[in-house]
Amino acid sequence: MSRVAVLVSGGGTNLQALIDARTNGEMPHAKLVLVVASSGQAGALQRAQRAGIPARVIERADCAAQQEFDTRLLQLLRQYRIEVVVLAGFLSILGPVVLNHYAGRIINIHPSLLPAFGGQGFYGLRVHKAALERGVKITGATVHLVNEVVDGGEILMQQAVAVQPQDTPETLQRRVMEEAEWQLLPRAVELVCQRQEGGYAD
Ligand code: GRF
Repeated sequence: MSRVAVLVSGGGTNLQALIDARTNGEMPHAKLVLVVASSGQAGALQRAQRAGIPARVIERADCAAQQEFDTRLLQLLRQYRIEVVVLAGFLSILGPVVLNHYAGRIINIHPSLLPAFGGQGFYGLRVHKAALERGVKITGATVHLVNEVVDGGEILMQQAVAVQPQDTPETLQRRVMEEAEWQLLPRAVELVCQRQEGGYAD
């Protein structure tokens, strides 16, 4: 079983999907051992507490530079002997210190079918607003490995969601979460943890 940390910045519905999947026996190779929030206000912290998962906060604003943030994060991940890192609505950028240490073992969920509507500046409702403005009829969610290119790492899984004529960014965001993200993320975490056990990473 791989030791997993979930990094969060917001409400944590994807974290909740992971907690529920674990409870329901859908992620037998993943053990959720740590939640790291980039803000003390993140609603995800309450979800971690309810589930009995240790949670820590590293505020990016408290760190003088990216490197200090990365060093503190890496220290924490090592302290908990983390093997797989999941970004579940984590809004801070990770620097090379963490990316190199966990190469091939950091996964992110993005609320569009990458490479559409991805990259710098595409986060939260902005992604869905851009999809509606472009008039796409199908959107969805992508789980991918994280590298130094924002939303540019190897795609692991995608799930499509139909756009409806009356959709607003808010309704589309909700449906993409319900119909794609919350199903996809636990499956992808299980996949990476399985690979990890098979000697996928050092
Ligand atoms: C999700 O839409 C996810 O795809 C994106 O950030 C959002 C996080 O939502 N990366 P939550 O905090 O998991 O509810």
